[in-house]
Amino acid sequence: MQPAAFNRPAAPFWDRIAPKYARKPVEDPLAYAEKLDAVEALLEPTDTVLELGCGTGSTAISLARSVAEYTATDVSPAMIGIAEEKGRAAGANNLRFAVGDAAGAAANVPFDVVLAFSLLHLVEDVAAVLASVSSQLKPGGLFVSKTVCMGEANLAMRGLVRTLEAFGLAPHVTSLCQVQLEALIQDAGFEIETIRHFGFNRFNPFIVARRPGWRRTSASPSPHFTSPSGSIGPEMEKSCLQSRDRAGPLLP
Ligand SMILES: C[S@@+](CC[C@H](N)C(=O)[O-])C[C@H]1O[C@@H](n2cnc3c(N)ncnc32)[C@H](O)[C@@H]1O
Repeated sequence: MQPAAFNRPAAPFWDRIAPKYARKPVEDPLAYAEKLDAVEALLEPTDTVLELGCGTGSTAISLARSVAEYTATDVSPAMIGIAEEKGRAAGANNLRFAVGDAAGAAANVPFDVVLAFSLLHLVEDVAAVLASVSSQLKPGGLFVSKTVCMGEANLAMRGLVRTLEAFGLAPHVTSLCQVQLEALIQDAGFEIETIRHFGFNRFNPFIVARRPGWRRTSASPSPHFTSPSGSIGPEMEKSCLQSRDRAGPLLP
């Protein structure tokens, strides 16, 4: 992993593609709906929520209805500009958008829940972002992430991503393996409660992790791991472990 000093600024890439990103239909609407349902089931009406890397705000606008206060941030001013327009049109009064890096602190800390969807693979210092998330959560608060684990993809796919990245056609992608991601989350002090996959993509785990402590909920769900069809397969885990040490250096 590169130290923070080597971080390349992510905003120009995302600013450039923001209008196109806003027009792009959701790739797998069923999987997206399942994800929203799963997150909603974790939220309490009294919760204050922070979403990192919120893009053009669609998820924030949907989920803000279920909680007391929702803050959504993104490194790209263009993404936030579009999100603010959409939020105003939706009349979401408890929703606030702000420009901010995922590793930085938001206003209104601490939060009951921090969300990060399709984000962690895009930040260069995942550990720094996780440490920041932990510091902004109340004890017992939840961190919910769904992110691409490019380290699970084959060499050809990783090579293609690196080539696109070199030509400025793709953002920086950190090649995480799922076991490495889990280890980073645990190293930041979280207890992983749930790992699921939505849709057909096995390289995009939905992870619910808790900062140790007590959180008041209307119904306290017991920690569980999903059925074999939804959880990480033993083959995937084995292949990851065979090729590199647990939480070893991240792949190029
Ligand atoms: C693939 S989009 C995902 C948007 C949204 N979370 C979703 O699931 O549709 C990634 C978003 O992360 C933002 N992003 C990239 N690097 C970031 C960083 N270091 N801090 C905060 N946001 C970042 C981008 O601007 C972009 O809006």
